[in-house]
Amino acid sequence: MEREPIVALDFPTWEISRTFLEKMDTSLFVKVGMELYLQNGPVIIEELKKMNHRIFLDLKLHDIPNTVGRAMKGLAQLEIDLINVHAAGGVTMMEQALNGLVQGTPSGKERPKLISVTQLTSTSEEQMKKEQLIEKPLINSVLHYAEISRKAGLDGVVCSPHEAAAIREICGEDFIRVTPGIRLQGDAAQDQQRIASPSQARELGSSAIVVGRSITGADEPAKAYQQVKSEWERRV
Ligand code: C5P
Repeated sequence: MEREPIVALDFPTWEISRTFLEKMDTSLFVKVGMELYLQNGPVIIEELKKMNHRIFLDLKLHDIPNTVGRAMKGLAQLEIDLINVHAAGGVTMMEQALNGLVQGTPSGKERPKLISVTQLTSTSEEQMKKEQLIEKPLINSVLHYAEISRKAGLDGVVCSPHEAAAIREICGEDFIRVTPGIRLQGDAAQDQQRIASPSQARELGSSAIVVGRSITGADEPAKAYQQVKSEWERRV
């Protein structure tokens, strides 16, 4: 289990992100998504590393295997800790993504862990049936994508806390389940459909949690972070 909650840096600029991190006053495991990375570039990763933060680069790559493999080779040089692809890109794409990471990791450094997105948590079963022409229940698709990700050699998946136990059952304890959709008691669900508190997520089988607005939108983010961390580590 990852001890620290992963904090989603869902901010448009480095300035805002830095101000937030200064207020937190501790090393974090942060998630950098498309919004921040695409507007500010790799320099952000260098800055975060200088500040001793661990990094989940949430770019959800999905393209032909060769392109994803080469992109991953470049990204591995940034010495991030965790990165992801869409499982819908297929087994060969995932294998080449992993290969690219192995090739790009500087010698003596640890390869970034690679996880996949199965069905996005924003996709409903009805939408999946209509748009992807998949007739099976959504959970079957999620479990199938988890299984092919494991076969491709990936380290885990991003999933809902409510899917974590079923994935663990099929793919084993070591196959990591990184789960967003986390809320402290009393926080609004906002656009997340099926939420869980940090302690519920642990009980449901998450191996790491991603928390955004419950921390970044709190009146006192540092206090909210400590509360999330304590609940996650069962120290409350
Ligand atoms: O603010 P909140 O805690 O809902 O943020 C969750 C973070 O996790 C966001 O950065 C969101 O993009 C991300 N995420 C998600 N569901 C996924 C994959 C990523 O909510 N399936």
